[in-house]
Amino acid sequence: MRVLGIAGSPRRGGNTDLLLAEVLRGAESNGAEVKTIVPSELNIAPCEHCDDCLKTGECTTQDDMQPVYLELERADRIVLASPLHFMGVTAQLKAMIDRCQALWARKYKLKKPPLGNRRQRKGLFISVGGRSKANQFGPALATVKSLFRTLDITFAGELVFSGIDEKGAITKDPNALKQAHLAGQRLVED
Ligand SMILES: Cc1cc2nc3c(=O)[nH]c(=O)nc-3n(C[C@H](O)[C@H](O)[C@H](O)COP(=O)(O)O)c2cc1C
Repeated sequence: MRVLGIAGSPRRGGNTDLLLAEVLRGAESNGAEVKTIVPSELNIAPCEHCDDCLKTGECTTQDDMQPVYLELERADRIVLASPLHFMGVTAQLKAMIDRCQALWARKYKLKKPPLGNRRQRKGLFISVGGRSKANQFGPALATVKSLFRTLDITFAGELVFSGIDEKGAITKDPNALKQAHLAGQRLVED
């Protein structure tokens, strides 16, 4: 089983990176093969809405998104990690998500499987927010669920923490990393 972690924060070693690493350690401890990609370290242009993909299901922009499509196709489980940035996912992750419009085109225009095969995939969302506002993860979750639905990835749940702001603050929550480890183990159990 291959698990792809997508580290959406531009703050390397920050709270979502720590959570994601622990989820992946949990998955690994149950025998999964794991890989992490970091959108902020890749050259991924935003979607230009050129509509080229509507004819072929392929994006014609040649940048680091091309290998990301292949990683998504290979994955059985996807763990999207992003802090809240103005209520949504980070701009770096959103650029990657928007480039999945080519996969939307495969599915809805060309009637093909969006990720090339019909293997059962599951996806988990991890997030933190500095504030402690009720329902603050709703907008980001809506984006993530829309992506997963488009890619035929079953939503396997979310692991979100409020009031986590300073770099590394997540380690002060006595249960957060433990919960992340368990979530990773569970994600690859069935
Ligand atoms: C540009 C920017 C926008 C942010 N917007 C929000 C927000 O809307 N809600 C919130 O709760 N926290 C917000 N935060 C705080 C981060 O979510 C918080 O610091 C988080 O712990 C960062 O996680 P990381 O260490 O994984 O990058 C924002 C931070 C930045 C830099």
